[in-house]
Amino acid sequence: MRPLPTQDELRAAADIVPRDAVVAIDGPAGSGKSTTAKALARKLGLVYIDTGAMYRALTCAALDQNCSPEDEAGLTSLLDTAKLELRPGDRESQVLWNGRDVSQAIRTAAVDANVSAVSAHGEVRRRMVDRQRRFGRAGGVVMEGRDIGSVVFPLASTKIYLDASPEARADRRWRQNRERGVENDRAAVLADLVERDRRDSQRAESPLTISPDALVLDTSDLGLDRQIEAANLACRVNPWLDARTDWDAETAWRRCPGKYRLVYSFLGPLGQMLGLTVSGRPTPTVPAGAILASNHISWWDPPLVGGTFRRSHVRTLAKKELFKGPLARAFFGWMDAIPIDRKGYDDEAFEAARRALEAGDCLFIFPEGTRRPAGEPGPVRGGLGILAQVTRAPVLPIYVRGTGAARFGGNPQSPLEVRYGPLVRLHALDRLLQDLDPRDVTVRVGAMFLSMIEELQARSHDEHAETDQERDLASHQRHQRRSKRPFD
Ligand code: DC
Repeated sequence: MRPLPTQDELRAAADIVPRDAVVAIDGPAGSGKSTTAKALARKLGLVYIDTGAMYRALTCAALDQNCSPEDEAGLTSLLDTAKLELRPGDRESQVLWNGRDVSQAIRTAAVDANVSAVSAHGEVRRRMVDRQRRFGRAGGVVMEGRDIGSVVFPLASTKIYLDASPEARADRRWRQNRERGVENDRAAVLADLVERDRRDSQRAESPLTISPDALVLDTSDLGLDRQIEAANLACRVNPWLDARTDWDAETAWRRCPGKYRLVYSFLGPLGQMLGLTVSGRPTPTVPAGAILASNHISWWDPPLVGGTFRRSHVRTLAKKELFKGPLARAFFGWMDAIPIDRKGYDDEAFEAARRALEAGDCLFIFPEGTRRPAGEPGPVRGGLGILAQVTRAPVLPIYVRGTGAARFGGNPQSPLEVRYGPLVRLHALDRLLQDLDPRDVTVRVGAMFLSMIEELQARSHDEHAETDQERDLASHQRHQRRSKRPFD
């Protein structure tokens, strides 16, 4: 039976998209991003930002100043000294490069032909991404591009990936160009678009990809109105609302078997004594049937992160080495942990995890598979991506900081924090599996998790800058990793 929603849940369910929402719209050229993003921004009262126009403005400046699109250093110095502004306009946003209106000049065939090369440079992208994050940091934006959901705003409130056949897209581009007064040949537009798709999706630096948690809309046969309405509806998908959840804290607590109450009664106050802050969690308990995925920096992560869940039936995926000896086996068994052999694919562990998630239990995992030096999350192993594909469970990314240096009374030199990200559903898995090998999809899910953790870490560092003690600890841990000694 579904318990009654809380006030917060009801507010979130109302037909309101928050004023600080970040809507990421990605997709290939001609998929309808601009039209959709502009209409959506108008409808939701958010600011529209066209990131393609930023790469185009740089390309235009480079062509003007005889800087080759291959010259990364030349391009970055052009960009570093430029004032690049985007102003919302009636039909298109106005683009100003050092105060000059280049809104028309960035739509020429010469810019079309060179913009992919310009946008492929890592240093150019890093600078553009920085600017885009500054534009959108306070929220309240609909931002369109190629890497908005995957790189620029991995924690965007809504991620939409618009897709359409190359023919449908070329046709739209051709019409658009004609409306702007640019004469062009339809076959040439198609050839250019296919080539640009190839370059945009094969480049090494943030290629065009579908983020696993994006809602994919194929717009080939959708009329404009339906396309905009579908995007509008996508902004109202809130996984917290349809999650199987026992978010009523009292009910959750009543349902907790005695051993869970015992553990939470001990870990809650322990966290408080250590000065632990918990942020980003919209409900008092975590939802049922979700993968709770945390970065890993210390032995203290399982109890301190786990102590914040406040719900029963959380199964931890723990390395099988921990189950050595009868006492340890009994303890981890009592804690409902699932042993996993981290060498290769442990089908018994994955099967146990699948059954647990299907039964509505949560699964607590550390996707990096091992402790990492503080402040340096990643790389991510395959477990999360495999589990996500097998179970389709929603994923709750959790960032933990400071557990390696916790002190009673709090450590001012090293903040202790558990920061919850948004609960995400991996809507795009089926679409990704159409084009990719499951192993590549696993890699994509891992990359999504890592970019979310990095973003949560960046937000945490914005609030409490990384301290010298944290940096020293990280460098000590890095050294220990290199000498293959376990961390203390
Ligand atoms: O959306 P558009 O056609 O105006 O984009 C122009 C080019 O910029 C396109 O080739 C891809 C690139 N681009 C990008 O690499 N990343 C973005 N976020 C936006 C555009």
